[in-house]
Amino acid sequence: MEQLTVHASAQSYPVYIGENVLHQTESLLKEKLAGKSKAMIITDTNVGELYAEDLRLCLDPMLPVCVETVPNGESAKSLASYERLLTACIREGLDRQSIIFALGGGVIGDLAGFVAATYMRGIPFVQVPTTLLAHDSSVGGKTGINHELGKNLIGAFHQPSAVLYDTQTLMTLPDREWRSGFAEMIKHAYINDSEFLQWLKENVRSIEDIKTNKIRPFLKRSIAVKADIVKEDEKEAGVRAYLNFGHTLGHAIEKLAGYNGDVTHGEAVAAGMMFAMRVSNYLGLSNWDVEEEVKWLEALGFPVNIPAGFSAQTFIETMKKDKKATSGQLTFVLVEKPGCPLLKTVEEHLLYELLNNDKRGMTSGD
Ligand SMILES: NC(=O)c1ccc[n+]([C@@H]2O[C@H](COP(=O)([O-])OP(=O)(O)OC[C@H]3O[C@@H](n4cnc5c(N)ncnc54)[C@H](O)[C@@H]3O)[C@@H](O)[C@H]2O)c1
Repeated sequence: MEQLTVHASAQSYPVYIGENVLHQTESLLKEKLAGKSKAMIITDTNVGELYAEDLRLCLDPMLPVCVETVPNGESAKSLASYERLLTACIREGLDRQSIIFALGGGVIGDLAGFVAATYMRGIPFVQVPTTLLAHDSSVGGKTGINHELGKNLIGAFHQPSAVLYDTQTLMTLPDREWRSGFAEMIKHAYINDSEFLQWLKENVRSIEDIKTNKIRPFLKRSIAVKADIVKEDEKEAGVRAYLNFGHTLGHAIEKLAGYNGDVTHGEAVAAGMMFAMRVSNYLGLSNWDVEEEVKWLEALGFPVNIPAGFSAQTFIETMKKDKKATSGQLTFVLVEKPGCPLLKTVEEHLLYELLNNDKRGMTSGD
């Protein structure tokens, strides 16, 4: 088992990474669970069926535990699910000595974390990530839900008490979810670690490479990138914004796709990163061989095209509703070269031109 510590202002907390970490829950969390009145495991339909009972059995039999399950997928990050979970907390009698376990991928981490952040003005929670993507989302304390007008528009910073990352749970992940999570790993490499990026490009050439033990040792490295950024800028006043590389257009793609599973978060981010590279090349800030990058991602099975069916104007209007837009201006994270990110406000007419120039699947005449 590997371990690292995330330093945040409210508290520092451990991240445990390894096979069968779940089965050590009781011993790893002994102090954090001492005196707890009740635990609620929040999970989704897929993950609940696979791992909720395992987790329950790993907790002290004297601790009352209840399980709340929401439908799987991005649509669960909604006001309706949030309200239903708050009602469950009240009905089950959770109090300020209770604790929530977020058992699942990034959707559950964000949703359950937001419930924990706001129920009785905040109770502790533990992240138990079960997707590759959640190596990123479970660390750093960003919690939240979507509004029908935009993604992650409602939320809070609330750091978990611990992160238990049992890599054995990844074994049941569908290929598409491996790929989705790998996009966030690539993002960490692009913005922070050129050596890591080089290694990934040389060694990860297919979905099988993502799924094998090859990338396992790099999970800790990727989490460490995030932990370092969070330590420096917990509330996203500065460098943490670089983690949004690929997310400005990525969130718009997810929003327009309708949160129905047609596009995964990582697929949207991958397309967004390629677009951001085109933007920085266009502005003369970089010299990316975008076609080479696209080739790599396509070999891994990413659909990196901007989805057809929406006009450039629609993408721009959707991006303007994102919380990263300030006074209606669109700020992008651009990367000059691996490890050198910057924030740049990009003129709308340039985006319009670039979105329209991108013949990859865009509708014409918009
Ligand atoms: N808070 C943050 O800092 C942060 C960072 C990045 C992304 N996110 C958020 O994370 C979300 C995406 O997370 P995700 O990609 O993990 O999606 P997800 O939670 O929807 O999981 C993807 C799918 O995999 C299934 N699944 C999860 N674990 C499984 C397992 N072990 N075996 C089989 N199936 C499993 C789920 O049921 C779901 O259908 C987005 O909402 C995004 O906004 C948050």
